[in-house]
Parts: sequence; structure tokens; C-alpha cells
Amino acid sequence: MRITGKTQLVGVIGYPVSHTLSPAMHNAAIAELGLDWVYAPFPVAPDRLPEAVRGLQAVGARGFNATIPHKESLLPLLDEVSGEAAFIGAVNTVLFHEDGRSIGYNTDAEGFLRAMDESGIAPPEGEKAAVMGAGGAARAVAAALAKAKAREIVIVNRTFEKAEALAAEADAAIGVSARAEPLTEAGIASALDGTALLVNATSAGMDGSAGLPIDADALRPPLAVYDIVYSPPQTGLLKTAAQNGCKTLNGLGMLTHQGAIALERWTGLKAPVETMRQALLAAQ
Ligand code: ATR
Repeated sequence: MRITGKTQLVGVIGYPVSHTLSPAMHNAAIAELGLDWVYAPFPVAPDRLPEAVRGLQAVGARGFNATIPHKESLLPLLDEVSGEAAFIGAVNTVLFHEDGRSIGYNTDAEGFLRAMDESGIAPPEGEKAAVMGAGGAARAVAAALAKAKAREIVIVNRTFEKAEALAAEADAAIGVSARAEPLTEAGIASALDGTALLVNATSAGMDGSAGLPIDADALRPPLAVYDIVYSPPQTGLLKTAAQNGCKTLNGLGMLTHQGAIALERWTGLKAPVETMRQALLAAQ
């Protein structure tokens, strides 16, 4: 990488940030596109977030990504926030516009849909879909399913009240018919009845899907199963679903595409998705 007097700066803020795979993914794409840009990691303590946003803008950065713990706290610090990021309650991409405005986006929902698109799993247009989880990731998935024009979504969560709250909000804010179920065998069975797509948006998959009370027999084609976890690449949920003959998808595509969309926002160029995916796999 060659830094010049014209090098454009982008990067990621987090705390800690050393675990992030984003610099590997974005710098590989920058090299492929032949841009004089650089993508750097910035550890930003929570109480210094407002300063960091102003500072990045002041030094002429084109924008930045945000990861834990900044995605929610960024919202009130920006000049504009997209409707989708406002519903999700989290910003993962900021663009510093040439006219001085800072604009916050959340690229997870679109990343989720693009990954599904390339996987051969049909988007659930006019279908019922089920989402496990009611945190930030589940909110992005709900936004994506609303965009895909699902007929109904069922939010299934361990803490039932959170599922109810998200279902009510989805119904009102993003125009998708939504209802809640508890994360029990009966709740999951009801959610999966006549359902085209099951998405795991809980963090349970990171330890192999332990704790998800799913009866293997409930996972049968034509149900497709999408786990947004990318490490491990095959959670227990995906393994069982694949053994039963369901189409399955992990979170690597979503991670790649949410990054690709961010890069497209900053550069206006089509992102080299395959290069980004390979860089992620190599950096893990
Ligand atoms: P994220 O931003 O990744 O969505 P989060 O907001 O902390 O993270 O949400 C985590 C989600 O995973 C929640 O829906 C949580 O369920 P609760 O609302 O009941 O806490 C769910 N989750 C985490 N660990 C889980 C487990 N072992 N079994 C079932 N659900 C789990």
C-alpha cells in the first residue's frame, strides 16, 4: 500500500477494535479497485465518541464504519440518519458528504438481502418468515424481511416481552405484519408452521447454537434456514437443517455485503464482492 498526499481516509471505530476483520476486507477491495484510499482501525473510548466523529470529519475522512459499542450512540451525533438505521436503532456506516453533512446508514438489512439473493434462497416475498432474536441483529433482519415484502414475520425470543415490543414496532414502523412467540419448542413450532424462511439472529449460534430449543424434525424442506453467525461457519442449527435437506446460509455473505455496500456509499463504485469475501476468509 502506498500512502500519498492525496490518500483518502476511511476506517472503523470500535472499542476494542483490534479483533475487526473490516480493514482486511476493505483494503483488499481498495487495492482491487486501484484507489488511493486507506481503511484504518480506530479504537475510540465511548466517552470520546463525539470528539472522534468531529475529528474524523475535520481531517477529511470520507466516512467510517462503526462497531460495538458505538452503533447506537452514534445516532444523535449525526446530521441525518436513514429511516432504516433509525428503525434498527443502529448506524454501522457514516458518510461525510462534500457539503459538510454527516449521514448515518445501516447496511445490514440490504447486506442480508444481497447475500440471500446470491445464495439461491428465494426472498420471502408474500411468504411467512420467522426470526429468532429481538436485539439489534434481529431488528436489521426484520427490516430486511419487510423490504423483501414478507407477508408475515414471527419474532421468537427468549425474553418474550422483547419479541412483543419488536413485533409491535415492526408492525407500526416498517409496514410488515408481525407477531411474537416465546423461544420454546411450542413457540418455534407455531412460528415455523407454513414458514418459508427461519433466521437465527440470536448470539446463541456463536457457541454452536447451544440453547436453541429446536426439534430437528421441525427443520424440513421447503423451509430454508439462515443463521447470521459466520463463525463457526456451520452452527448446530445449520448442520441439522442441512442434514434434513433444507437450503442453508451462514452470515459470511451478509458480513461481506454490508461492507461492500458501505464501500459503495463512500466511493460510488461497485465493490469487488468476491475479493472482499476471500479477504474475510483469509483474515479469520
Ligand atoms: P445483537 O446486537 O447481536 O442482536 P443483542 O442486542 O445483545 O445483540 O441481542 C442478543 C439476542 O440474542 C437477544 O435476542 C437474546 O435474547 P434475550 O433478549 O432473551 O436476551 C438472544 N440470545 C443471546 N444468547 C442466547 C441464548 N443462549 N439463547 C437464546 N437466545 C439468546
